Amino acid sequence: MPNNTPSQHWQADAYARNARFVADYGTPLIDLLAPQPHERILDLGCGDGVLTQKIAAAGSAELVAAARALGLNAVQGDGQKLAFNREFDAVFSNAALHWMTDAEAVVAGVAQALKPGGRFVGEFGGSGNIAAFQTALRQALHARGLQARECWYFPTAEAYRALLEQHGFSVPHIALFPRPTPLPTGAAGWLDTFAEPMLPAMSSTERTAVLAEAAATAETLLPHENGQTIADYVRLRFVAVYGG
Ligand code: BEZ
Repeated sequence: MPNNTPSQHWQADAYARNARFVADYGTPLIDLLAPQPHERILDLGCGDGVLTQKIAAAGSAELVAAARALGLNAVQGDGQKLAFNREFDAVFSNAALHWMTDAEAVVAGVAQALKPGGRFVGEFGGSGNIAAFQTALRQALHARGLQARECWYFPTAEAYRALLEQHGFSVPHIALFPRPTPLPTGAAGWLDTFAEPMLPAMSSTERTAVLAEAAATAETLLPHENGQTIADYVRLRFVAVYGG
């Protein structure tokens, strides 16, 4: 299920160019999920489907062929309004839950979607994530008398564990860790792909100026290695099991 946030318009080609690393970094998460043949798994916020296809491939050669022939079963909807009822063996989510600011509604919907004993395995931005980009954008907006919109959910491990437990999950694993991330198209490419939801209403000329200024500031705040800008990503990774 692709994530469908109202103020973010995803373009597949730009996403592939500027954010291919999203699926690449998420691949180890599939080991934590340990998908089994015949399991029914919901990929919540599946992006362009690259990881979803890998999960499908963990079935059998026959299932893979069948999945390929049919294409992935993807539906577009709001992850904060899931309407599944005890249908899934597991719910998986990589780099998507921070876009869904009503985290309580997401976790309640996932709990309802899972069979008893079902797993919820995920990774997303945690406390401190992309602090340099947020500072750079806030500064560029503030200089024009504008205020950034609050659009992302980056919780601590303690807060997210408490939320999961409140909804009937046990949490065998949850950890917050920095994941410095080289950006293939620098700060400007990242901002162009992801900054939109933080921006208040403004003219396109103003938008271009804000993004250029924020990109220049972010380049001064972030480290560089081998000519690449390294973004200050912080991940929150967890495995939770629904008790029923
Ligand atoms: C993230 O993956 O942490 C992220 C990506 C885009 C915007 C905000 C956070």
